[in-house]
Amino acid sequence: MFSVASSAAGHRRILSSIRHYCKRAPKKLRISEAVSGSELGTNIKVQGWVRSVRPQKKNLFLHVNDGSSTKHLQIVASSEQSDPLLTFGSAVEVTGVLKKSTHQKQPFELEAHQIHVIGECNPVDFPFKIKDRHSMEYIRQFPHLRCRTNVFSSLLRIRGEASTTIHTYFKENGYIQIHTPIITSNDCEGAGELFHVEPPSMETDENFFSVPAFLTVSGQLHLEVMSGAFSKVYTFGPTFRAENSQSRRHLAEFYMVEAEVSFMQSLEDLTKVMEDLFKSVTEHVLAQCAEDVDLFHKHVSPGHRDTINVMLTKRFPTITYSEAIDILNHSSEKFIFPTQWGCDLQTEHEKYLVKHCGNIPVFVTDYPYDLKPFYARHNKDDPEHTAAAVDLLVPGVGELCGGSLREERLDVLRARLEEVGLEHTYSWYLDLRRFGSVPHGGFGLGFERYLQCILGVDNIKDVIPFPRFSRSCLL
Ligand code: 4AD
Repeated sequence: MFSVASSAAGHRRILSSIRHYCKRAPKKLRISEAVSGSELGTNIKVQGWVRSVRPQKKNLFLHVNDGSSTKHLQIVASSEQSDPLLTFGSAVEVTGVLKKSTHQKQPFELEAHQIHVIGECNPVDFPFKIKDRHSMEYIRQFPHLRCRTNVFSSLLRIRGEASTTIHTYFKENGYIQIHTPIITSNDCEGAGELFHVEPPSMETDENFFSVPAFLTVSGQLHLEVMSGAFSKVYTFGPTFRAENSQSRRHLAEFYMVEAEVSFMQSLEDLTKVMEDLFKSVTEHVLAQCAEDVDLFHKHVSPGHRDTINVMLTKRFPTITYSEAIDILNHSSEKFIFPTQWGCDLQTEHEKYLVKHCGNIPVFVTDYPYDLKPFYARHNKDDPEHTAAAVDLLVPGVGELCGGSLREERLDVLRARLEEVGLEHTYSWYLDLRRFGSVPHGGFGLGFERYLQCILGVDNIKDVIPFPRFSRSCLL
């Protein structure tokens, strides 16, 4: 029989052994936490992948990272703990005490008590070598493994931060996020770059959705629906274009940031939003991901930091399309595509215009009406037959954003839709102009082109985790 007293003593014993266990059980930290040194003197456990191995006479030095930081954690172990399986790329779990380091390179290091190899990695077969700095072209060949490289880890951290910052920017500026559909029955841009969506075998001849359906090329028209009730809306998601292009700035699947603002009356107000978004997000990302961005500005695009700094301090100039054509016509550059009023601007023209304006982003406004989709607002008073549309051209990339004021006048819009035979397809869009129509405008920003622009990355395939483009859909 147990007495009350002995049962209390039993509880005390259990509690004290739990406390003892807690004292001894290592605290699990992420590498970013460990390298910060906040748990100095604590018994800790980290898990990650080996980024370097240096066996010395007495000690073994490892660098381990789990993707949470640009900094690797230095592990110091005695040479008896050395294991042939401890190779570059292997996955490990290390326990030990976090100490001050005597080495200048890092303030803290982990004195290992135990190193456990969780996943082996044969260094001969592993495509990345410990001492080599691999080019972006080389690592692109291994989409399933490239996140193991320093440069691609940095890219992914920057991409994640930029994405969050864009959402924060819109939230802080009073925009409502709208989840626009991926599958749609409209072709917003009318450029014939649609991927059709249909199950492989339909028993009847009918479409699955009763109407032809496509992967979205833009969420704009859905945002316009919402801008009939919310004065500021945005969307940020994947967008698809069946462009038969292998270019360094086109993908078949890319992410687009789109905003729509009701009661907006001028292109100048629209360009202010575009410039503010660009500068605010960039300043935040440069500050929040300083070391990751430095890696790009040092090794991938030397000198690019200066270009970015100039972009952030100067006001983006605005020129009209007609002025742009004049500049191009008066240039001594030999363009592949000839220029005359009415032609579409090609990448070579866009890059020239950016250089001409001092290698900073430049807005080009008031494009020929016939070059723009049906939704663009007609500049009625302009004898040159233009639309209130604007593109933002940026150094190294060319077009980063495309936007316009939207045609809010029912009669003008109806006439345009009739002209192109779309008045029935877009009867719902005409309704938006029948019931409480207001002047409004919006734009789309290509997220991958944005990353190319701030990091100085030449090829768009190097700023997206899994690039999709014509004749390639790996993984
Ligand atoms: O100029 P775009 O075609 O504009 C629209 O789709 C509008 N409906 C957006 C709007 O007003 N809401 O595309 C916007 C941006 C381009 O400026 C470019 O940065 C990017 O999307 N983009 C691409 N990025 C990568 N690969 C492609 N194939 C792209 N096509 C456009």
